[in-house]
Amino acid sequence: MKIKEFSTVGRDDLGAPNTEITVKAYAKVNLSLDILRKRPDGYHDLRMVTQTVSLCDTLTLEPTDCPGVSVECNFDYIPSDERNLAVAAALLFQDETRLIKSGLKIKMDKKIPVCAGLGGGSADAAAVLRGLNTMLNAGLSTEKLCNLAARLGSDVPFCVVGGTLLMEGRGEILTPVPALPDCHIVICKPSARSSTLAVFGGVNAKKIKYRPDNDGLIKALEAGSLDDVGCRMFNVLEDTVARDVKEIKSIRRALIDGGAIGACMTGTGTAVTGLFDDRKAAEKTARRLTGMYENTFLTEPVGGILFN
Ligand code: C5P
Repeated sequence: MKIKEFSTVGRDDLGAPNTEITVKAYAKVNLSLDILRKRPDGYHDLRMVTQTVSLCDTLTLEPTDCPGVSVECNFDYIPSDERNLAVAAALLFQDETRLIKSGLKIKMDKKIPVCAGLGGGSADAAAVLRGLNTMLNAGLSTEKLCNLAARLGSDVPFCVVGGTLLMEGRGEILTPVPALPDCHIVICKPSARSSTLAVFGGVNAKKIKYRPDNDGLIKALEAGSLDDVGCRMFNVLEDTVARDVKEIKSIRRALIDGGAIGACMTGTGTAVTGLFDDRKAAEKTARRLTGMYENTFLTEPVGGILFN
């Protein structure tokens, strides 16, 4: 079986304004995830270090004469109405700018598994915002795009900026931290899916015993020490999700046994990620896991854009 390998080939293929453009929508993985408290609005205040990775969907945005937003996708279970965050993003962008002359077709080549904690839907929405901003020459600042993104979902602002960021609040408060040193990230998702709503609904923030050392993790990034980052990878939601999805612990074990410096579940799961400094060990582990889990990917970190 062939492992699915993703390496970075430049960010976006941005054409001239007002013509069809192709945008990459990169997945994210959590190096850490802590829940500080439940808020009166029902959301949770989080503190987490998140990394963009080279596994990506590819979106083509095409102006059409047919009014409205239409979707063409390689997965037939992806909705083509506003439940699809990419469509919601296009409609929000249009509300804000009124720059789409007639209609828009979004062609989506999806590779990021859904309900995995990899932020696929959020990445698609962010790619639509960034893509339309360029295609329509709208000139919205990154800050403005992030404000729109936050109305679509908690992870969408992260996906607009990307790279290595500390996420706080419900996820929308972003602080750049030093980039993760060069490494290989193996992502493996068992077949069980996860619901963000259900996972957050089942957690009691007051009862969390063990938390990630986020400050130590940021210091490790500042020092450029992959070892010190790896040993601090920790997600407070992992044990809750692993109670129902037994494969999470066995995948984590397989990653560590294969030579990962650190491993943890990403977001609300169910994907688990392992950080490797050794390319051959990462390849070997990915190949082994691919035999058991179809959604296994060998990826690398991707840098973000600068705030403007
Ligand atoms: O913001 P988003 O729509 O992605 O969140 C989906 C659900 O996940 C929310 O309705 C909320 O129940 C939960 N959530 C949370 N705390 C966060 C982010 C999401 O409780 N920081």
